Amino acid sequence: MAVWLTQQVGANGRVVATDVDTTYLNRLDLPNLEVRRHNILSDSLDMLGPGSFDLVCTRLMLFWLAGKQEIAIRRMVECLRSGGWLIDEDGDWGMVAPVDPSHSHYALYHRVWKNGEWWASRGYDPTFGQKLPMLFERCGLVNIRHEASAAVVRGGSPWGRWWLQSLEGIRASERADGSLTEERDKEYGVLTAPLTDPSFWFLNALIHACWGQREIS
Ligand SMILES: C[S@@+](CC[C@H](N)C(=O)[O-])C[C@H]1O[C@@H](n2cnc3c(N)ncnc32)[C@H](O)[C@@H]1O
Repeated sequence: MAVWLTQQVGANGRVVATDVDTTYLNRLDLPNLEVRRHNILSDSLDMLGPGSFDLVCTRLMLFWLAGKQEIAIRRMVECLRSGGWLIDEDGDWGMVAPVDPSHSHYALYHRVWKNGEWWASRGYDPTFGQKLPMLFERCGLVNIRHEASAAVVRGGSPWGRWWLQSLEGIRASERADGSLTEERDKEYGVLTAPLTDPSFWFLNALIHACWGQREIS
């Protein structure tokens, strides 16, 4: 996303890319890109320049800031100039589920996933992405638009492999912080096993794009 933005703004434009972990961003060496380590929840906005950005663009981050999304959005809005735009792309990660009731993995998967309760029990809102327009409005943005898309894909597909890695990453973090009970570990097994099985069709996450404008003052 940072690279694409540098191409859009051209040689005279400027892109500032931020993350709490800049390991990947630091590999980029582009004349119109500045990389800054910054925590959107707690670091000073003076490091970035409040009221100075034409566009603030964030992707696949807000979902993970459970209970603090509104704070993060308000702070990103503060960075916009009058009339500037905020865009977020985020997912309804808790919606990922099989679509074929006759498949051997279907019943067990649903027993563990429980309509997204598996995510809610970990403190995440399974349908966070679709709430973006309300949050944007609460944070004072106007001219809000929202679009979403999803696909039905099979186990072993690129999306299936990516989702498998994502769940394994969350399992590893639970193992590291000591919250991975034997029962939870089995649940991960149920949710991940079908993801390499090409006969398993499932709805992937609804990915939302929401954008809104800071009022012109
Ligand atoms: C799923 S990755 C998405 C990365 C990138 N935006 C993309 O779309 O490919 C989520 C990113 O959010 C970053 N992140 C998490 N909490 C953050 C915070 N409080 N402030 C800034 N970045 C944060 C993580 O370090 C991680 O790089």
